Amino acid sequence: MTGIPLFTGPHVELAVSPDRAVEAVRDAFVRHARGEWTMPSKVYVPAYPQGDFRAMPALGGGHALLKWVTSFPGNPEQGLPTVTGLVLLSDATNGMLRAVLDAAAVTALRTGAAAVLAAETVGRPDAETAAVVGAGVNGRAAARTFLARGREVAIWDVNEQRARHVAAELGCRVAAGREDALAADLVVTVTPGRDVLFEEDDLRPGQHASLMGADGPGKAEIAAGELARVRVFCDDWEQASHNGDLGHAVDAGLVDREAVTELGAVLAGEAAGRSSAEEATVFDSTGLAIQDLAIALAALERADEIPDLPLLQL
Ligand SMILES: NC(=O)c1ccc[n+]([C@@H]2O[C@H](COP(=O)([O-])OP(=O)(O)OC[C@H]3O[C@@H](n4cnc5c(N)ncnc54)[C@H](O)[C@@H]3O)[C@@H](O)[C@H]2O)c1
Repeated sequence: MTGIPLFTGPHVELAVSPDRAVEAVRDAFVRHARGEWTMPSKVYVPAYPQGDFRAMPALGGGHALLKWVTSFPGNPEQGLPTVTGLVLLSDATNGMLRAVLDAAAVTALRTGAAAVLAAETVGRPDAETAAVVGAGVNGRAAARTFLARGREVAIWDVNEQRARHVAAELGCRVAAGREDALAADLVVTVTPGRDVLFEEDDLRPGQHASLMGADGPGKAEIAAGELARVRVFCDDWEQASHNGDLGHAVDAGLVDREAVTELGAVLAGEAAGRSSAEEATVFDSTGLAIQDLAIALAALERADEIPDLPLLQL
């Protein structure tokens, strides 16, 4: 192959199945927990009130990655995506660029993968029902991942038409309503984080929620008091404690480092997961560059098999 493969959104989806994404993201969390993959802090470049830019670097698997990506929650009203940008993957032995990928597709795959991986890891093993709240780009990805893992899923969105559209496309059910969706054994929330979905005492014993939407300042999908009541897992303490749901609870002095377990530590066998069938669990995600690295490497592995992959000549 001469040139640098450019994976557009459809090329990323063709190269990496949701199932492969879960395995790749699991491996990334474990390697990060063991210190083999590293990740300098995500840099937020605020452009509020409209949104923000994020620069997300990572190093691992012989490669370095930078994701330059946006979150502009009001964009869909103008027919524009909330999340857009590029991922650059370079060889860490000589600095040469190896691949360029569509950031929205990489983000969706790894976000869906992390949400479902967390539900599978700390949710109850006998969980029966699953639901996704928020049927946007990343909610669709979470529903697609649940289905790929052989689990039925219901989807719900304040925008009914969007939920119906995603359900028809993926072949899943639209939840009977907000309460129905939020009552599932495994809930994934992927909303812009403008409304709290779980108030204090809402999570019932044994229930699990992967909270994916509130990944930046000012956003929340769960009340801080509820985080203080349930067992909390997160993707990365440094990142999650400064933003979104966990950030509010930490700022209010309701949750501290000792109360929170990183998912990678559980997957690496270094920390305990769910402690009882009755424990209510949440996974607070802000999204990690190591997850993006996992997907970019999985895509690059398959570059030779993807038809009509554009090649950049720099
Ligand atoms: N944790 C992560 O790794 C991660 C990754 C990507 C995106 N995000 C965040 O997830 C959120 C959603 O991203 P997206 O790209 O899917 O956005 P999107 O705009 O494509 O979709 C958001 C959806 O949520 C729906 N919604 C809004 N308020 C709701 C509510 N109260 N209840 C139910 N549905 C509601 C909207 O109608 C829309 O369909 C954003 O805040 C984004 O920053 C987090």
